[in-house]
Amino acid sequence: MRITVIGTGYVGAVHAACMAETGHEVLGVDIDADRIASLNAAKAPMHEPGLDDLLTRTVGSGRLRFTTSLTEAAAFAQLHFICVGTPQRPDSPAADLRHVDAVVEALAPVLRPGSLVVGKSTVPVGTAARLAARLRKTAPQAEIAWNPEFLREGSAVRDTLWPERLVVGVTSERAEEALREVYAPMLRVGVPFFCTDPSTAELVKAAANSFLATKISFINAMAEICDASGADVTTLAEAIGEDSRIGRSFLQPGLGFGGSCFPKDIRAFAARAEELGVGDAVTFLHQVDGINIRQRRRSVDLARALVGGSFAGRTVGVLGAAFKPESDDVRDSPALAVAAAIQAEGAEVRVHDPAAIDNARTAFPDLKYSLVIPEACEDADLVMHLTPWQDYAEIDPAVLAGVVRIPLLVDARNTLDVHAWQRAGWRVRALGRPR
Ligand code: UGA
Repeated sequence: MRITVIGTGYVGAVHAACMAETGHEVLGVDIDADRIASLNAAKAPMHEPGLDDLLTRTVGSGRLRFTTSLTEAAAFAQLHFICVGTPQRPDSPAADLRHVDAVVEALAPVLRPGSLVVGKSTVPVGTAARLAARLRKTAPQAEIAWNPEFLREGSAVRDTLWPERLVVGVTSERAEEALREVYAPMLRVGVPFFCTDPSTAELVKAAANSFLATKISFINAMAEICDASGADVTTLAEAIGEDSRIGRSFLQPGLGFGGSCFPKDIRAFAARAEELGVGDAVTFLHQVDGINIRQRRRSVDLARALVGGSFAGRTVGVLGAAFKPESDDVRDSPALAVAAAIQAEGAEVRVHDPAAIDNARTAFPDLKYSLVIPEACEDADLVMHLTPWQDYAEIDPAVLAGVVRIPLLVDARNTLDVHAWQRAGWRVRALGRPR
């Protein structure tokens, strides 16, 4: 099939490449000319495992190319995926839909008759219906469907080529058939396919992210109880996770969630529920958000207490800047929020990250950065482990002990082998674990 993918951020770039990989002819579209030039040269605009290889193969084969022209896209295909961002509004917790609206506004007059516009962006429930009403004015034969995306940064290619489920919200059989054809390679191998109405599809995404965020905040709330009672949250998480009704995943206690999705998605969901008059049904999401932000403060409080009550004149080595490992994304990164807070209290902070230093420097130019772990930790009074990259699990604590001034570690992600660090002479503290 011929398809276009409008918006080439995480979702769009990966979707375009994966659709080309499964045999479709794909045209990717973005208003950012530099990004388009880089994608046409098969260079991914972000660090994402496997994406450069996929782009090299699909752009090389001619099945994938990129343009800045929406008019060209409208002429190229009758099936268009919208993958533009829906960030939080600057002035409220609600989603900012201006990019989605602008794409539909620009496409409407140039769409070929019978075109299907499929939203993948995360949107408040009711958006597809509103956009369909807009399309009816200028492109009465065009249709809107919603097909939320569930990929995770860091495993985006795998998640797109081998999804755990596909969800499409449609208003006609024709739209369902078109989407079944797009995803035929996945359906052939038995990926569950939920065909529903657009509102349900939109809500599946909001509900999934809210549930996952709730799981994380739940275990972090338990970490606070553990801290107050001398219990160990890591054992608690493992033990409750063995119950198959609970499950072990997304119960990793620590600094909490960040990134471009969970924080803004739970806020937008709560805001939309308020608009619908059912805000009371999801007030718990405000607590999920509050518990999450509190972990950043708790980490700073713990670190301050460990260095004697004040950061003034202290040197702190920070391991991690990205909001999660295998990503160079620093949007709403808990690690950088903590690093910046500590620096604001007078510490000299040196941040290491294997992939995200460039983005981190742009977001927080006043922090100091190093690409080498021992350099970031040199003469440190405290080392803070804030993003659980595998590189940090492979550190030899005995070697690092020889570099710092005081072998004192805060493992804010609870993924390091605490006993190995202690054997190498480190004093280690973590959120939710006994001292
Ligand atoms: C998340 C969802 O997992 C995807 O399914 C969804 O498609 C995506 O949002 C989106 O809406 O676009 P992502 O933000 O890439 O994906 O990252 P996750 O792996 O979900 O991690 C989110 C945050 O939670 C990270 O900061 C991570 O460190 C944190 N986390 C995760 C925990 O603190 N504990 C855990 O147990 C798991």
